[in-house]
Amino acid sequence: MQNRRQFLGAIGLPSVAVSTALRSGPCELGEIVHAIAATTATTEQLVADEDFWLQVGQAFAVDRSLVNLNNGGVSPTTTFAMAAHKRHLDFSNEAPGYTMWRVLEPQKEAVRARLARQFGCDAEELAITRNASEGLQICQLGFDLARGDQVLCTNQDYPRMINTWKQRAAREGIELVTFSIPTPCDDPARIVELYRQHITEKTRVILVCHVINLTGQIMPVREVVALGRERGIPVIVDGAHAFANVDASLSDLDCDYYATSLHKWLFAPIGTGFLFVRRSKIRSLWPLMAGLPEQVEDIRKFEQFGTHPVGPFLAIAEALTFHEAIGSARKFARLVHLRDLWARRLLATGRIRLHTSLSPGAACGIATVEVDGFDSLELSAKLVSEHRILTTPIVHEDFHGIRVSPSVYTTTGELDRFCRAIESL
Ligand SMILES: Cc1ncc(COP(=O)(O)O)c(C=O)c1O
Repeated sequence: MQNRRQFLGAIGLPSVAVSTALRSGPCELGEIVHAIAATTATTEQLVADEDFWLQVGQAFAVDRSLVNLNNGGVSPTTTFAMAAHKRHLDFSNEAPGYTMWRVLEPQKEAVRARLARQFGCDAEELAITRNASEGLQICQLGFDLARGDQVLCTNQDYPRMINTWKQRAAREGIELVTFSIPTPCDDPARIVELYRQHITEKTRVILVCHVINLTGQIMPVREVVALGRERGIPVIVDGAHAFANVDASLSDLDCDYYATSLHKWLFAPIGTGFLFVRRSKIRSLWPLMAGLPEQVEDIRKFEQFGTHPVGPFLAIAEALTFHEAIGSARKFARLVHLRDLWARRLLATGRIRLHTSLSPGAACGIATVEVDGFDSLELSAKLVSEHRILTTPIVHEDFHGIRVSPSVYTTTGELDRFCRAIESL
């Protein structure tokens, strides 16, 4: 690991700042944030500045014998957020009824305010949840629906969310309508048109992914929300893979319901997420677990899931600080740059098929590749067992492949190792 002097030097921190920051010991959050923020390079210059990203990567204590190209499933937490998380857990345990509930729990409000600022909503519209599944299911199960009512989503929505609709279908007799979308897709208008074609008189709720987990495709959320709004149909946005990945905020999406996980692209502790519900919609959405009667218009009614550790939630603050220092635009640009590095190299072999569009803005840094003549489950297993390279096998009714999701700590050397492994096949 580089020492502090090497770290600050590598990112070109001005000499005055360097001298005040020089002390022995491991890098700390304040110093890394200060150093990253001090760089004057533009996004275009930074995107391929390997020294810069090598230093960013030092915020993660990862096993470098393994090339982890499944950061989409769940990400390692930064060492800063892990340290805060552990500190809060230890303190909580001293006298949980006091230290956890009375001292730490109220601090969640500051985290709520910071998350809300990052997403672009009011703090009174954001509930802190344990993951995207929880936030999405609050919405999916929180609308009153009657037998015969239809809910609409694509066949590329997340399986757990599709199964949630299926459970409502089995239990209450609602009808789930799904449709295929072109894959890869460069034409968002085509996707919007497909949603439009599948809306009927009976459609009561629409679910749309912000980013499709199978391919990294970015969906035309704003347009789908508008379609629903024109017809009085609520649109639930699944932002599990998008928040702190795609450089977009609420004003870009204009949605009323949005849920995400924070243990994916914000690099917060595992078991963190949020649910945004527009203020005017809070009253009419039932919580999954009953809130207090006086909470009917309070976003905190969605947080009544009983006793739970508060440490992961408070450590979201450290994750936010790290994310803000890197900056959403830089992070997105770097992840797309890494995707293009490996994907264009493998395309040149003429033996692969990409299920992700490389056109600007069509997808994020996640991409899925099918290798000629290979079963994707077997290929992914082979990459782990023979090369210690972790990918995600994708087997969908419309396509298959291996999903590759590098992170900000992924080096170009690791991508070279992945490409050589595929080329050797
Ligand atoms: C599109 C999508 N929605 C929802 C989820 C659920 O996320 P979590 O398991 O963090 O709740 C995932 C997880 O990968 C996902 O990819």
